[in-house]
Amino acid sequence: MSVQAPATRAVTDSMAGYLDAHPELKYVFFGGKGGVGKTVMAGASAVWTAEKGKRTLLASTNPVHSLSGLLDQNVFGKHTPVTGVPNLFAYEIDTKETIERSKREIREKIQWFLKFAEISTRADEFVESATMNPAFEESAMFENMIDLMFRNEYDAYVFDTAPTANARRLLGMSKVYSLWVNKMMKSREEAQSLREMLSFTKKKEQDPLMQYLIEFRGRMEHARELLTDPNKTAFFFVTLPEALPIAVITRFINWFSEFGIPVGGVLVNMRIDRSVVNPDTAEFVRNRLAMQDEHMQTIWEKFDSQVRSIVPLFEDEVRGVQMLKRLANEVFTSKPAE
Ligand SMILES: Nc1ncnc2c1ncn2[C@@H]1O[C@H](COP(=O)(O)OP(=O)(O)O)[C@@H](O)[C@H]1O
Ligand SMILES: [Mg+2]
Repeated sequence: MSVQAPATRAVTDSMAGYLDAHPELKYVFFGGKGGVGKTVMAGASAVWTAEKGKRTLLASTNPVHSLSGLLDQNVFGKHTPVTGVPNLFAYEIDTKETIERSKREIREKIQWFLKFAEISTRADEFVESATMNPAFEESAMFENMIDLMFRNEYDAYVFDTAPTANARRLLGMSKVYSLWVNKMMKSREEAQSLREMLSFTKKKEQDPLMQYLIEFRGRMEHARELLTDPNKTAFFFVTLPEALPIAVITRFINWFSEFGIPVGGVLVNMRIDRSVVNPDTAEFVRNRLAMQDEHMQTIWEKFDSQVRSIVPLFEDEVRGVQMLKRLANEVFTSKPAE
């Protein structure tokens, strides 16, 4: 005899259904609180799309070496074919290298500009103040992610962590930002023509800052296009049937909807399998199941038809390709009512 279940609810539109309805889906992200299973869900989804024949890149911008651990294979710093899964490549972005490169680029730009404007100050101070903050590192990783997307070498990209703060900032700021860049460009143009008028040589100089602004604006616009295209992009939010992870994704989903970023749906992870729980099961497990039942009610109320899958808590952690295939089956195939 298993423990009594509460009123039955079912997933109306499964993950498989979502993919069928979005055949052009190309950029997939997973968001949620730490420890809920974003990395394993990303791994399982990448395995799934690769097995469906899409050349897939599973990428992580997470500074912790999460993908190498997940796949039992070193995928750090370069695109690496995943053993046992044709079409699948994995890549753990080298955070330190990315940040250093970003600093070098900023230094170059500032040096260019100081030289162009004939200001004889050393660039170091400016570089320090531009790069000595945590937001800089985050932005550097975000830019790296965008570069990957732009290079367009794969049919599908699965990112193990949603750049939640950055995507939101990018989209929230993009209008203000566009205005600002346009204004900057206008005043640069004026300064440029004044310079030309005063110059005896009549030599037309290239303004490096201006070129940078134009290029940067273009990149941001392109990123915005891709990230807000519901045919190409989906952010999935992972939660447990617990209060805090639910609160976290509720906030994310609200932000994302507000900015028109496509929310693919909600994945509920680590649900205890009711069929193995009976009155003789240890009390803490029965209590935990009862707690999950309550939070499931909240999940249905809040997210309703956005729930794509309810994934059971396995007997062991998710590691290695075989386990990812098993998880992918749980995530992507429709299941009977809860
Ligand atoms: N359904 C599950 N059953 C058992 N263990 C799981 C399940 N989902 C995730 N885990 C384990 O939980 C831990 C956290 O998962 P992870 O994907 O690293 O979370 P996140 O990336 O959100 O921090 C990992 O050890 C993972 O193997
Ligand atoms: Mg992770």
